Amino acid sequence: MYFFRFGRVRVFGAFALVLGLSSSACVERKPSASATQTAASPQADTYATPAPDSLRAFADQQKKFIGTALATWHFGKPNYKEISAAHFNSLTAENEMKWEAVEKQQGQFSFAPGDALVAFAEQHHMRVRGHTLVWHSQLAPWVKTLSGDKLRAAMLHHVKTTAEHWKGRIAQWDVVNEAIGDDGELRKDSPFTALGKEYIAEAFRTAHAADPAAQLFYNDYEAEGLGTPKSEGQYRLIQQLKQAGVPIHGVGFQMHVEPRKWPTPEEIRKNLERFVALGLTVELTELDVPVGEVPGTLAEKLEWQKKYTHDIAAACFTLPACTGITLWGVNDAVSWLSTPEWGKLRGNGPHLPLPFDADGKKKPMFDGIAAALQGK
Ligand code: G3I
Repeated sequence: MYFFRFGRVRVFGAFALVLGLSSSACVERKPSASATQTAASPQADTYATPAPDSLRAFADQQKKFIGTALATWHFGKPNYKEISAAHFNSLTAENEMKWEAVEKQQGQFSFAPGDALVAFAEQHHMRVRGHTLVWHSQLAPWVKTLSGDKLRAAMLHHVKTTAEHWKGRIAQWDVVNEAIGDDGELRKDSPFTALGKEYIAEAFRTAHAADPAAQLFYNDYEAEGLGTPKSEGQYRLIQQLKQAGVPIHGVGFQMHVEPRKWPTPEEIRKNLERFVALGLTVELTELDVPVGEVPGTLAEKLEWQKKYTHDIAAACFTLPACTGITLWGVNDAVSWLSTPEWGKLRGNGPHLPLPFDADGKKKPMFDGIAAALQGK
């Protein structure tokens, strides 16, 4: 079972074929490469149908997305592509659609790595989440030399050019990523903050003009619960954007779990519900559940991870407007938390944060996600 993306409407598998034949008039069909490629050359698919016990089969049955973050430099690693195609129906570019990768020099765009990720997704009938158009981190160095109108112009040109390049092939863009600080205000360490809050609306409007069919998301971390300055600041920002008629369609909650201090699944659900009540789609966009600092034996850590992941996934999947969960990586070996640079953010490792181990074997965490996808 797989899905086609017709504009902002997505339909699934065989049902899509019937729908496409009988009611193309009512389904706005975007002439996207994925649809064309799939419709014109099904034999080109190297991916047949998901195994019945795969995460993506469970997700397809619920009309949900279960995704992973991919990087082309891992493509040659054992089981990396195979697990991605077999278990996930959504792909996020982990790094290769970020500013530093796409526009290294002002006005000089390089889309090849991102193109390779989009091609992989389309070959395997995976939705694509574009990540990310405007973010203070992983910026090309030249951007940080600009300010005022020059920075605003460079930002809007980057958004327009990048979104236009993949027009019709990106289901969701993280248009603005991590704009809010721990105090709930625009973060002081972002060069875009000096432009004033309006830069966020301008980025969304420009992205919408560039690719009207893409769902446009605001994406952030540690705003998953209720009552913190950051989570309340994020809610206020999104309310203001909606009230101003800004074309924002969803909010991404990254869900990089910090086991030593994290909202309960019930609190997470209550938080998701209030954004849904604003008329938004919500997704968990970068889920990982590190166990380095979780007490107990390895078996006890992994059992905790399975249950906690299940409960968080259920908090999303039981909400109709929580349309997908993306794991931040394919297996423990390629996780950002497995690097010395980032692992220390979650204390002592190994963190083992993902549903497949370094050898590509399923962990108990996999069963927790599978159960949540089946409503168990
Ligand atoms: O591209 C250079 C390469 O030229 C160089 O040889 C290599 C040497 O280490 O570094 C490469 O850059 C690395 C980059 O990923 C691309 O691989 C950086 O060192 C490394 O710090 C960077 O880490 C990424 C991190 O964002 C940067 O903040 C992680 O892979 C990525 O998983 C992580 O993802 C972010 C999301 O985009 C936003 N939400 C938080 C999440 C975790 O930080």
